Amino acid sequence: MDVPVAEPVVRAVSDLVAAGDTGYPASPDEYVAAFSAFAADRWGWQVDATLARVVPDILAGLGAVIEATTPPGDTVIVPSPVYGPFFRNPRLIGRVVEPVALTAGGRLDVPALEEAFAAAVAGGRRASVLLSNPHNPTGVVHTRAELEALAAAAARHGVVVISDEAHAPLVHPGATFVPYVEVDPRGVSVLSAAKTWNLAGFKAAIVVAGPEARAIVDAFPVTLFNGVGHVSLVAQTAAFRDGGPWLDELLPALTRSRDLLVDLVAEHLPLARMQVPESTYLAWVDLSAYGAGDDPAALILERGRVALSRGTDFGPGGEGHARVNFATHPEILTEAVRRIAAALA
Ligand SMILES: Cc1ncc(COP(=O)(O)O)c(C=O)c1O
Repeated sequence: MDVPVAEPVVRAVSDLVAAGDTGYPASPDEYVAAFSAFAADRWGWQVDATLARVVPDILAGLGAVIEATTPPGDTVIVPSPVYGPFFRNPRLIGRVVEPVALTAGGRLDVPALEEAFAAAVAGGRRASVLLSNPHNPTGVVHTRAELEALAAAAARHGVVVISDEAHAPLVHPGATFVPYVEVDPRGVSVLSAAKTWNLAGFKAAIVVAGPEARAIVDAFPVTLFNGVGHVSLVAQTAAFRDGGPWLDELLPALTRSRDLLVDLVAEHLPLARMQVPESTYLAWVDLSAYGAGDDPAALILERGRVALSRGTDFGPGGEGHARVNFATHPEILTEAVRRIAAALA
């Protein structure tokens, strides 16, 4: 996002560096406490600290849960299109990735997922499913009813749902984020302050197991926490503890930016189809009617000098699409859409 870093984070990190306190972390407890207070305040979620583990980042957390729930050669099911590392990372650790298409409206297709669960666990094999909650790239915020249906289907087949909640605090008015483990005691949620406060360079994240999934976090290698830096913990702790006012200023600005993008696309890209994101600062735009092939982002970069995320990086269903990051100033967004339109004309 094109935003200045939240002042409490700047202060916490500056004080730390000025004091020369740049060594190892003593413990993850303050981070867990700050996150838990944030989760209780924003979502009414009472996090059980004994079920929480601090890990280097969200992807490391997802990887650790995959390692704990499926042996190599077994299946990770991925609603698609979705954030690219959901495909790449499980493959890197020897799992088979099985994409399941979202519905035409970009929502979870629970009956199709359940079919994939049944196939994946046939013959006594194990499977997990990676959920993007809210969903990157569509910005869909899964409803409680959708998550409950998913949880029931997963329970019927012994599949573990791993919920990546990287964008959870960034929900626009009208939608409500539901922490996955609130609806599924067998599931696992993974969160951090990185996306919300623009702190991806300060690596830390938290894995919270549902009450019936304690064995999953207990199976994490003890060395996992060694990848978490002290300065990162301090930065993200400050964000969760003191970054609420900054977030409350950011959210209406992001919603305005989203609405501006919707208007700009309607005006300048009449053939584009864009789902209005219910969350975060990313928009998933179907540009296939412009005839620019599977990867319109390549043409737009070359001709318009605007960098979008390539749709095909989001797996099957991403062809002809591009992902726009709209967390920028109105003038920049306006100029970007004008250039995209000119490039596709
Ligand atoms: C859905 C989702 N998960 C995970 C990440 C990466 O998080 P981390 O850097 O903590 O691994 C991102 C970053 O864009 C994301 O969008």
